[in-house]
Amino acid sequence: MRILVTGGTGFIGSHTVVELQQAGYNVVIADNLINSNIEVLDGIENITGVRPAFEKVDLTDITATKEIFKKHKDITAIIHFAALKAVGESVGKPLEYYGNNINSIINMLTCMREFDVRNFVFSSSCTVYGQADVLPVTEQTPKKKAESPYGNTKAICEDIMNDFAFAENQFKMIALRYFNPIGAHPSSQIGELPNGTPNNLIPYITQTVAGIRKELSVFGNDYNTPDGTPIRDYIDIVDLAKAHVTAIQRLIDNKNKSNIEYFNIGTGTGVSVLELIETFEKATGRKVPYKITARRAGDIEKIWADTTFANRELGWKAEVPLSESLLNAWKWQEKLGSLKL
Ligand code: WQD
Repeated sequence: MRILVTGGTGFIGSHTVVELQQAGYNVVIADNLINSNIEVLDGIENITGVRPAFEKVDLTDITATKEIFKKHKDITAIIHFAALKAVGESVGKPLEYYGNNINSIINMLTCMREFDVRNFVFSSSCTVYGQADVLPVTEQTPKKKAESPYGNTKAICEDIMNDFAFAENQFKMIALRYFNPIGAHPSSQIGELPNGTPNNLIPYITQTVAGIRKELSVFGNDYNTPDGTPIRDYIDIVDLAKAHVTAIQRLIDNKNKSNIEYFNIGTGTGVSVLELIETFEKATGRKVPYKITARRAGDIEKIWADTTFANRELGWKAEVPLSESLLNAWKWQEKLGSLKL
């Protein structure tokens, strides 16, 4: 039994490969390395003692993608992370985002049918909810038009999975809707490796404290929140990785209640940007230099998860405290040194 992890050298993918291996699964990674480094395989091996099989492949190329399944005949399940995922970048590059993210999932599902691989876990996002009218969001919260082509690709991918599940009911699929993944493996062997200037909050904070960036810009403090800054549900990367192992096990054990299921993978707690900065400073003893600036286009005001369904039905719950996630992120940044990635 082997799990194919597409995008497995990425931030979430690499942490998931570690948890899969530690749960006893064999893994093969397929990645085009457009947004990650091959050295991540060393980090994974340093943690688990097992170097995962690796195939460098562009998943928008169906011929090359089929070769993975012809070579690894023991693939019984797929966790599909591979996608372009920079919200801001997607606004200026819609064709690249739709072309890459939509064609790669279509090729994945096509291969599932051709090679009879019946278990599929998809990396989705809370972005599909947009700015929800009622908080916290449940899996039944209506999806809203995404604020970016990136977010729209996630919603479209879920629609494709839904229609595929209806047409071919022998496949079992789960979409995990993540909130904000943060932190790093406690070993500091793997972590987030943003390309260029980080879009996301935590790597920008750690690079600022490391002296790589001058100061953090807090994008607006005039929102309708207690301290005026936006609220998010920050989930530890190892907790998130474990949710994928639980989901794939559910499918392999045929415990799914329908052939497509959706789960909110968050902590259930909303945290503002200023609260996060304060938590980081307390956890690390380091000051975060910041200034308040204008809002960032496309940002929503607040979102956090109702995790009742994932806790009860999936049997998964986030456990790592925010302070520990932030300390791990900082330890990882110290390990990276002052590299400008
Ligand atoms: C978090 C908060 C910013 C940077 C995105 C995607 C989502 C998921 C996670 C992939 C916001 C504020 C940020 C900065 C700031 N990605 N911020 N200064 O936008 O909530 O979610 O990444 O799955 O799908 O939408 O994450 O980390 O960019 O922002 O003030 O330099 O931090 O305004 O309130 P976001 P983020």
